Amino acid sequence: MLTPEIDAFIVRMPKVELHLHLEGSMSSQTLLELAERNNIELPAHNVAGVEQLLRYRHFSEFLTVYMALVRAVVHGEDFARLAYELGTDLAAQHVRYAEVMLSPMQHILRDVDIIEAVAGAAEGFARAHTETGIRVKLALDYGRQYGPDRAWKVLEQASAAMHHGVIAWSIGGNEIGHPPEPFAEVFAEARRIGLHLMAHAGEVVGPESVWGAVDALQVERVGHGIRSIDDPHLLHYLREKQTVIDVCPSSNLYTGAATSWQAHPLRQLYDYGLNVTVNSDDPTFFYTTITEEYRRIVMHFGFTVDELCHLTRNAVYGSFLPPYEKHTLWHEMEREIKRLRQELGV
Ligand code: ADE
Ligand code: ZN
Repeated sequence: MLTPEIDAFIVRMPKVELHLHLEGSMSSQTLLELAERNNIELPAHNVAGVEQLLRYRHFSEFLTVYMALVRAVVHGEDFARLAYELGTDLAAQHVRYAEVMLSPMQHILRDVDIIEAVAGAAEGFARAHTETGIRVKLALDYGRQYGPDRAWKVLEQASAAMHHGVIAWSIGGNEIGHPPEPFAEVFAEARRIGLHLMAHAGEVVGPESVWGAVDALQVERVGHGIRSIDDPHLLHYLREKQTVIDVCPSSNLYTGAATSWQAHPLRQLYDYGLNVTVNSDDPTFFYTTITEEYRRIVMHFGFTVDELCHLTRNAVYGSFLPPYEKHTLWHEMEREIKRLRQELGV
């Protein structure tokens, strides 16, 4: 039950978020201001209009709205603004460290310079760091529907952007009809140049997509992964390997990937012993935040304070920080958590 004490704990607990899209985090107000300044005609002209658009019946409709609205973001300074606003917002939620994805193809297709975009985002996060202490690293999340051939050029750009804090390579976008396997060579090269690997998989396609991600792409983390529940063999494998599964519950409800809270498999995945983390994915698009996700899993799945701490620890150790930094970060966070639990009696 979400008591006032547990609610206070959730609000104040130190957090780490691993599955979060920069473009999916911009506020409706910022989106409208950027569209006006950049002379971009959007399908909405005020906050109510944007919110009207953020009602989708299924995943492909979500992607269409997402791509229509993202057109407002054009210049390096726009990305800097999004990053600064996201960084300070996360810091206000006591997020100590986050890994944030940027979707390169959505920008490249509009002739936006992706290096300028990444440099802008890095600058915005650096400003948020100076003001609040939050640390943020970046991942490029390639839209799988654009195919493996075009991914090579983007990977080259990811390589050139590593000094801006790009630490990971991922695939996202439309999972249906775009399995992981054709990306195997691109992922192998990404690993070779020193990037960490993730993939959205098992979000709207079944276990075969997760198998492809872990087998063919050798990813360290799976985004969503909820359909793993349909394959006992896969569950066993993921538990053995302790593959990190970044679950985004509200996202799954809003895109229709899960039909209801009761039908969402987070509780089963966690109880089975998978290495699960909880994340917000696209806060603006799914009316959520990392804080809100923690609240919702307490309300809908009865997660306890001990379990929330365990999920947070999973996020620290599932991150792409170097091992010694993970230990230091968890050490600090664990101390804070203990103090907070004592103070609140939870
Ligand atoms: N890009 C932004 N959000 C996404 C999601 N939930 N799945 C795939 N691609 C995405
Ligand atoms: Zn995502």
